Amino acid sequence: MDIDEHEITLSVNGVSYKRRVESRLLLSDFLRHDLALAGTHVGCEHGVCGACTILLDGQPIRSCLMLAVQANTHEISTIEGLANRDGSYHPLQQAMHDHHGLQCGYCTPGILMTMRAFLDENASPSEDEVREALSGNLCRCTGYQNIVDAVLTAAERMRG
Ligand code: FES
Ligand code: FES
Repeated sequence: MDIDEHEITLSVNGVSYKRRVESRLLLSDFLRHDLALAGTHVGCEHGVCGACTILLDGQPIRSCLMLAVQANTHEISTIEGLANRDGSYHPLQQAMHDHHGLQCGYCTPGILMTMRAFLDENASPSEDEVREALSGNLCRCTGYQNIVDAVLTAAERMRG
């Protein structure tokens, strides 16, 4: 093993991986290139746009601001693991579809992962709370209203 490489073991979407990674490899690049999970998008690479948002132990983080070695022993969830086990959409995905909550889709994985964690914390959010929770995820296409409507619908459906 090269001096600047480290062996890491982590869980991604319930699957355990052991890999050797360079010290400076970003977690976003590790997911996209080493694990071929390219659903995590990279926009700014500076922690600003939110496109690269994933869940680390259930909490949303910007994978462009974290090194792969820092994810050692942690549990990660990405957009590839959001759908239900039977392949049907997660309620957030279904509601985004129903409300036309995306256009180019570049921001969408990050938004869905952010909102998944948000609804875990707040099952009955107000529109203002959804907008506040979305404020770190930039979308240049939609104007946000349809995304907000989708999150409110998903929350309602998830409450049953
Ligand atoms: Fe990570 Fe923009 S790519 S926040
Ligand atoms: Fe294009 Fe959000 S749908 S950036």
